[in-house]
Amino acid sequence: MSELISGKAISAKINDKLKNEVEQLKLKGIEPSLAVILVGEDPASQVYVRNKKRTCEEIGIRSIGHDLPASTSQKDLETLVKTLNNDTSVHGILCQFPLPKGLNENEIILTISPEKDVDGLHPINAGLIAMGNPKFISCTPYGVLQMLKHSGIDTTGKNTVVLGRSNLVGRPIATLLSSKGWDATVTVCHSRTSNLSEVTSQADILIAAIGIPEFVNADMVKPGAVVIDVGINRKDDPSNPKGSKLVGDVAFEEVESKASYITPVPGGVGPMTIAMLMANTVNAARWQRGLDGLSL
Ligand SMILES: NC(=O)c1ccc[n+]([C@@H]2O[C@H](COP(=O)([O-])OP(=O)(O)OC[C@H]3O[C@@H](n4cnc5c(N)ncnc54)[C@H](OP(=O)(O)O)[C@@H]3O)[C@@H](O)[C@H]2O)c1
Repeated sequence: MSELISGKAISAKINDKLKNEVEQLKLKGIEPSLAVILVGEDPASQVYVRNKKRTCEEIGIRSIGHDLPASTSQKDLETLVKTLNNDTSVHGILCQFPLPKGLNENEIILTISPEKDVDGLHPINAGLIAMGNPKFISCTPYGVLQMLKHSGIDTTGKNTVVLGRSNLVGRPIATLLSSKGWDATVTVCHSRTSNLSEVTSQADILIAAIGIPEFVNADMVKPGAVVIDVGINRKDDPSNPKGSKLVGDVAFEEVESKASYITPVPGGVGPMTIAMLMANTVNAARWQRGLDGLSL
C-alpha cells in the first residue's frame, strides 16, 4: 500500500501560515488584495471562483469580485484589467478561464501586469521559470512542488516523467523539476509519444496531467514510484446521487497498491492550487512593498 499525499492537509498547513503572515502584514498597514474577474456564467468557473473567494476570506485576503456578463467585449475586459493594473490597492489579478467564446485569453494574459500575475501565466513569469529564476509560479505546478517538498520526497537525480505539456500544467512542472534545486531528470510525454507505457514505467516520479479519466493504470507504473495525479475529470457514477464523481488521470485503486506515494482526487492537487494562489497573492503584496517573498 502506498502513502497518501493529502493536498487537503498540506494546503491547510500552508493556509494557516499565510493567515499568520496576512495578520503581520496588516499590522504594517498592508492588506493583501486579489481582484477576481469572472466573465459569463459557466457553472464550473462559478464554483472555482466561489472557492477562491472563500479561501481569501479564511486567510484574511481582501477579494474584490468583478462579475461580468458573457457579452463583455474584449476591449472592455482589457480596460478593466488595465484599471486594476494601475490600482495600487490591488496586489493580484485573477481572470477565471475559460473565457466565453469570442474573447481572447492570451491577450488578457498579456494585459495583466507581470507584477500582479498571481496565476503565473504571463510570458515574463513563464520566462523567469525557464531561466531558473522563478517569481510567480503558476498555481498548480507550484502546488505539485509543495506536495513533494512537504512529503519529504527528494527529487534529485530522480527519473521523472511528466504526462502532458500544457502551458498551464505539464510544461512548467517539467521545467521547474529539471531546474537547479529540484534537479530531477525529466521526460515530457504528450499525445504523440511512442511507447508511452515503456517510458512511464521507468519513472521514479510520475506526474499525470492529461485530462483523461483514469488513463494511467498499474502496468504503466514502476513499483515504488511516487505518483502525482493532477487530473480532475467527471465520470458517470450511477451509485452517486449526483450521477457522477470526480476522478483523476490515474486509476487510483489499482495504482495505489504499486506506488510508494500517491495523491488522491479529490483532495489532492486541487486544494493545493487554491493555496498557492493565496501564496502568490501574499507574495505579490510583499514584493510590491519591497519585501522578500515567503518561503513555504
Ligand atoms: N488540480 C488542479 O487544480 C488542476 C488545474 C489545472 C488542470 N487540472 C487538470 O489537469 C488535467 C490536464 O490539464 P491541462 O490544462 O494541462 O490539459 P490540456 O491543456 O488539455 O493538456 C493535456 C496534455 O495531455 C496530453 N495528452 C492528451 N492525451 C494524451 C495521451 N493519450 N497520452 C499522452 N498525453 C496526452 C496533451 O498532449 P498534446 O500536447 O500532444 O495535445 C497535452 O499536452 C485536466 O484533467 C485538468 O482538469 C487540474
